Amino acid sequence: MNENAKLELNKALEISKKKTLRELFAAEENRASRYTVKAAGWLLDYSKNLVDKKAMKHLIAMAEASSLKEEIERMFSGEKINATEGRAVLHTALRNVDENAKVIVDGVDVIPEVRATLAKMAEFSNLVRSGKWLGFTGKKIKSIVNIGIGGSDLGPVMANIALTPYSKRSIKCYFVSNVDSTHLAETLRQVKAESTLFIVASKTFTTQETMSNAAAAREWLVARLKDDKAVARHFVAVSTAAEEVKKFGIDTANMFGFWDWVGGRYSLPSAIGLSLMISIGPANFTKMLKGYWKMDTHFRTAPFERNMPVILALLGILYSNGYGAQSYAVLPYDQYLSRLPAYLQQLDMESNGKSVARDGSKATWDTGPIVWGEPGTNGQHAFYQLIHQGTRLIPCDFIAACRTHNEISDLHDKLMANFFAQTQALALGKTADECRAEGVSEELVAFKTFEGNKPTNTLLTEKLTPETFGALIALYEHKIFVQGIIWNIYSFDQWGVQLGKVLAKGVLADLTSAKHSFAHDSSTNALVATYRKALKR
Ligand code: F6P
Repeated sequence: MNENAKLELNKALEISKKKTLRELFAAEENRASRYTVKAAGWLLDYSKNLVDKKAMKHLIAMAEASSLKEEIERMFSGEKINATEGRAVLHTALRNVDENAKVIVDGVDVIPEVRATLAKMAEFSNLVRSGKWLGFTGKKIKSIVNIGIGGSDLGPVMANIALTPYSKRSIKCYFVSNVDSTHLAETLRQVKAESTLFIVASKTFTTQETMSNAAAAREWLVARLKDDKAVARHFVAVSTAAEEVKKFGIDTANMFGFWDWVGGRYSLPSAIGLSLMISIGPANFTKMLKGYWKMDTHFRTAPFERNMPVILALLGILYSNGYGAQSYAVLPYDQYLSRLPAYLQQLDMESNGKSVARDGSKATWDTGPIVWGEPGTNGQHAFYQLIHQGTRLIPCDFIAACRTHNEISDLHDKLMANFFAQTQALALGKTADECRAEGVSEELVAFKTFEGNKPTNTLLTEKLTPETFGALIALYEHKIFVQGIIWNIYSFDQWGVQLGKVLAKGVLADLTSAKHSFAHDSSTNALVATYRKALKR
């Protein structure tokens, strides 16, 4: 973070600490409308945050002091802003639905390739959906098993659940990610080889978990269909690495490509979303891309004071760096968004979990927060106690849709009543005097008092559709981008995941090797020995 940005943050913080949310609401009659912005089918009410217009001005000045406007343009125009990997960052090009779109990387317009891949995905999806793509024994495809991990899994899983109402329910999607054999075994127990299509999804096609699961799945299939040739009808690949795909034994005609300028955790709108496209159909997939693009366009063009991703990012920094908040909670009041917190964990924590500034020096300010959450109202009966009365500040994003896909009596009203009531309770709390006025006995007053003053954002849409879903994901992508810029870190690499991978290779060899002494630290050596003893090795 540069000195000017820090200065502006401190000014915002000083103002922020002067008034409680109760006082802020009392001081501004029309506070809700003053602190509400709309974009791409979403409404963000950020009035229940510890800011007023002056504090917001300083937060925006913090963004300006970090050259945010210029950095946004650098990303959208394909500059190689992922400097440690020497790559452009162009997930926005995947959903650029503008008729005259042109995005140049290394002298080449990438848009025609993007559209050609989408067309190939659509053709294949239609074949599978219509039952024209037949398995090796002539059976229609009834089950899709996506084998991938991280960005090649979390986005497709999360989106498949989110867009269930739009899915073709006669084709069921399964997801295998963990190298724990249980994950694969329990999935294979639910499907039949002759009617299953495996999508091996891996940007690099070298990831240990994915390649091991894919190899085991292939063996399982060939054992059942009793012919190697069956692989061509039951396995397709999604990858940037054609050579590796070939080596694995998948015909590259059955490969759907993407590019090194798509980060794994940003890859859902690329071919990585193939399982989703098969499930919801190409038309709905296109609607999702349009939703993404609406939010992209809003992000690129709206002034910061009305820019939804920018506002979310600035408020997040106020709490992380000003108030010392270690985490934030994502609380979707929508069962279809049940995996959104898990998806955002990778998106945010793999992007901004960095401690080195862009000039290579050690960052002396806090960067990416911990992200967690569960759907409401389940969370209310589990961890909300700590958010209401614990000692830590946990800013929360509350997310919901006004209309449900499943009208059953008054369940949705009840869900939404909880949704609205929680942010109210968190903001305003309940004073000791209010407790007394309710007849709470003096010895219990301290326990029953709610301090309040807990900041929340409310994100509301009319209905969760492919379009509003796409916009929601783009909102968080850009929020994370803005924070990375202000924290002056590289958000698009992930070197921190390498060391464990390398060490695991060495340990794996030791689990089966003939020698009985190992060259790790004493703890690892002892644990490996215990494991080998249990397996009588
Ligand atoms: O190990 C982290 C990571 O590189 C993620 O960034 C990525 O999404 C995941 O592994 C899977 O990688 P791939 O798609 O290459 O298999």
